Amino acid sequence: MKNTLISTIDADNFSDEELEPFAEMLKSGKTVAFPTETVYGLGANALDSKAVRAIFQAKGRPSDNPLIVHVASRKDVESLVEEMTPLAQKLADTFWPGPLTIIQKKKSDVPETVTAGLDTVAVRMPSHPVALRLIALAGVPVAAPSANLSGKPSPTRGSHVIKDLNGRVDGIIDGGMAMVGLESTVVDATGEDPVILRPGGITREQIMAATELPEKRRPVEGQSRRALRDEKAPRSPGMKYTHYAPDAPVLVIRASRQENMVDAIKNQARHYCSEKDRVGILCTEETLKKGWPLLWKDGNPRLERITSEGWRLILTGSLEKPETIANRLFDALRSFDDTDVTVILAEAIPEDALGQAIMNRLLKASKGEMAGIETDKNLSGRS
Ligand code: TXA
Ligand code: MG
Repeated sequence: MKNTLISTIDADNFSDEELEPFAEMLKSGKTVAFPTETVYGLGANALDSKAVRAIFQAKGRPSDNPLIVHVASRKDVESLVEEMTPLAQKLADTFWPGPLTIIQKKKSDVPETVTAGLDTVAVRMPSHPVALRLIALAGVPVAAPSANLSGKPSPTRGSHVIKDLNGRVDGIIDGGMAMVGLESTVVDATGEDPVILRPGGITREQIMAATELPEKRRPVEGQSRRALRDEKAPRSPGMKYTHYAPDAPVLVIRASRQENMVDAIKNQARHYCSEKDRVGILCTEETLKKGWPLLWKDGNPRLERITSEGWRLILTGSLEKPETIANRLFDALRSFDDTDVTVILAEAIPEDALGQAIMNRLLKASKGEMAGIETDKNLSGRS
């Protein structure tokens, strides 16, 4: 057990003095969890292999899954990357600081522990004021995966990090709730066209607009002709692991039309209830208001809601504002771990813009998806 230093820091009003002890830790090869605008990261000096190994150990992360290196300025990128391609420059100009990670050919100084032996490195300049200042004060590039135990949903609150990593890392900065709530978009910018390896806070449409790509060169997620030709290994090794899962299995419920969603969820919930499951439901405001109007109250997402059927209902956000769903998703998934539910039925949402990243994470958290209405036919996804 490590003696973890924990500090609460107000992201809107903090001093360098408050961050200094943590910056010192990073300088001296220790591990520090800190808030970013996407999710919390668990950082260590990216140029120090031993420090980076401590990250993998604290998280229980497989060593073949490379890390994102966080920088505080464009100058910091020079120590990591041979040369930024014009595409990478354009993306950095447009989206940094912010939730976009850019993959480039790496310099030899970047240890293999960071890149899991790949010849590329993932770099991001976060926009969270605490993250930016911490990295600047540390004066080193900071390798940081999400600050959760491997397999758990990424942390969006300091309390999530404390639950997973207290005693396993040297420092934790609790800076309140992450703004975006989903991890950064990962883009391979080693070629001429961007390849989206992981959807996230920056959407495909935003990337197309920034790079002035015509519709026929619309980036396909996780693929490119070059990738298919050149590479034997998967391009983004992290995508193959199970992720984000709460303790109870998650089943994603789809409905043929949005107006059928309440029925779809209720039918499946009745089915699981009859199988002696304790049912949890993860749904949007719209579904809650229509299906259980008495439970809406003031819409506080953290309110305890048990339906008259005895199901536990946890709210994500509004379909009209997908950013509220993104912001709440991991917190909502994690909050089921404090309950006794044995199955979680999660509402699918349309996969446009941010919906793509939200559904990507939800499906990774799940054991399967099913059409909600066809109660009897489609239950084989369960495990
Ligand atoms: O928003 C985020 O990206 C957060 C915050 C802390 O910055 N970080 C994060 O890191 O989500 P992590 O380790 O949970 O996810 C990093 C992803 C993984 O899927 C990994 O495989 C991929 O980036 N990745 C890292 N380096 C790569 C590389 N050189 N080539 C391809 N994929 C890479
Ligand atoms: Mg992660």
